[in-house]
Amino acid sequence: MEPTFWHARWQNNEIGFHEGQANTWLTTYWPQLSPETQSGKVLVPLCGKTHDLHWLVTQGHPVLGVELSEIACQDFFKEAGLHVEPTPCDAHLRFQSGALNLLCGDFFQLDRESAADIRRVYDRAALIALPPAMREAYARHLSTLLPDGTEMLLITLDYPEGQMKGPPFNVSDAEVKRLYGDAFDIEQLAHIPMDEANYFARRRGLSGASEGVFRLKKRS
Ligand SMILES: C[S@@+](CC[C@H](N)C(=O)[O-])C[C@H]1O[C@@H](n2cnc3c(N)ncnc32)[C@H](O)[C@@H]1O
Repeated sequence: MEPTFWHARWQNNEIGFHEGQANTWLTTYWPQLSPETQSGKVLVPLCGKTHDLHWLVTQGHPVLGVELSEIACQDFFKEAGLHVEPTPCDAHLRFQSGALNLLCGDFFQLDRESAADIRRVYDRAALIALPPAMREAYARHLSTLLPDGTEMLLITLDYPEGQMKGPPFNVSDAEVKRLYGDAFDIEQLAHIPMDEANYFARRRGLSGASEGVFRLKKRS
């Protein structure tokens, strides 16, 4: 999706993807990442104003979120009762408060230097927010950006192709392997089916859907 699409979503407050609390699969599966990366900095691409950023800080991580929308970045700190003045930082605007760092701007402009101390990545509703060609570019960018040994917790959504117009887009388990298999070791931690009675599936007219939870580790 082009930046104008997302700016309009934030402008019109059409943010059905935003959850009111930390994501269940994050809090359930984060402890399954390895101890070697336990206290390192976490990158959260396409982070919106998710509460997950606060949860990650409570787990002892410095956090680097990257988000296109300045409305999202401003709201994130305002809703946390924090006053933050943004400062220019290369291609981005930086919002910083304690262990929380948000770079406002295009994720594709994040460079290797800014990602040099990243040890973990958390992807919820980032890969699946992008159409197929952009997913390829996103996975390539992450693969070149991240230091060796970086671990990622990835949450995907899959549903029968063509049953709805994304975002969110369907990303199959096979696609995760195709996008990341060259650079990462991949382990599927969970496959969580939703039937047609599930609120999301019913509202979108899907015959069924499932979420996938993956642990990835960048090979040396
Ligand atoms: C579906 S939302 C998910 C937000 C968040 N991960 C969550 O779980 O609530 C996708 C977000 O990605 C942002 N976004 C889209 N393209 C981007 C890009 N190229 N760089 C940075 N952020 C982007 C959008 O503004 C939007 O907030």
